[in-house]
Amino acid sequence: MNISEGRRIKGNFFGKSIISFSQFSSSDIYLLFSRAEKMQLIARNAKPSKILAGKIVVLLFFEPSSRTLASFDAAVKQLGGQTVVITNPQQFSSVAKGESFEDTIKVFEAYSDAIILRHPETGSAQKAAEIAKYVPIINAGDGIGEHPTQALLDLYTIYKQAKNLSNLTGLVAGDLKNGRTVHSLLQGLLLFPNNKVFLLSPKQLKLQKDMLKHFKDNGLKIFEISKTEDLPKNADFWYWTRVQKERFKSKQEYQKLKNKFIVTKKLFEKYAGGKTILMHPLPRVGEIEKDLDQDPRSVFLTSQTRNGMYIRMALLDLVLRKN
Ligand code: NCD
Repeated sequence: MNISEGRRIKGNFFGKSIISFSQFSSSDIYLLFSRAEKMQLIARNAKPSKILAGKIVVLLFFEPSSRTLASFDAAVKQLGGQTVVITNPQQFSSVAKGESFEDTIKVFEAYSDAIILRHPETGSAQKAAEIAKYVPIINAGDGIGEHPTQALLDLYTIYKQAKNLSNLTGLVAGDLKNGRTVHSLLQGLLLFPNNKVFLLSPKQLKLQKDMLKHFKDNGLKIFEISKTEDLPKNADFWYWTRVQKERFKSKQEYQKLKNKFIVTKKLFEKYAGGKTILMHPLPRVGEIEKDLDQDPRSVFLTSQTRNGMYIRMALLDLVLRKN
């Protein structure tokens, strides 16, 4: 996404809306990671933190969510702040009475110190950030656009394992056309030198051409593959995603594509290495076989999930408090 100069973080998160991964530089990411390390200690500490005491964060979710919603909610509460949770406003709030998006944002802005927004329309977080005058908006997924906080936790998970974010080889698979987490993750990987990514998907779900060009032009080495025989050996990470059912017009088309690529134990044994981590933004709906869950390299239900809360705690701390 093209982001205006004023939105760039440049070492200062305070008061800024977080809309796209393109706002971050590599040093912004490391700043956030070092804060996340501290957050891990706070989360483990039995004594409650007061870092966000007195702050109210609205979670405004127009699309279903469990972990993004819960991890933001938990992150605010871990830091002593409070949340107002509005899920499915199309059905249960004034939106159902025909309220405009603009009015909804203005109303919740009046009650809160920040709004975390998930919305089915690409560009909606950017739109909300233009409407809100007093509080930052954090994009928790806008249609098939981006999901920057998911990519931050994904990069953090890779960093903790590989101890580095450059010279990596990764595999990203599944619905690359509609998967917003993939779009943000690739934007993150191109901030660091010499990263190589294999993209595996059915041809109908390939990354859109303009995005592919953008990533390649900015230095990410990309290899598009369409069969598992071409998987790289010993990659640093495998990032599997679900086929995004809700983005399909035709049910048959979804049925045809949903199980095209599945991680089996056999496949993982054949191509992954001892240090390869197996990631997934979740929810998993059959793309990774259950018998891989016990493998210590499977991090999607363990450290990747935990990192989500630490990263969101760190981000909220940096955005909501003058540090
Ligand atoms: C992802 C999303 O909503 O984009 N989920 C999440 O936030 N962890 C991925 C998905 O829904 O497939």
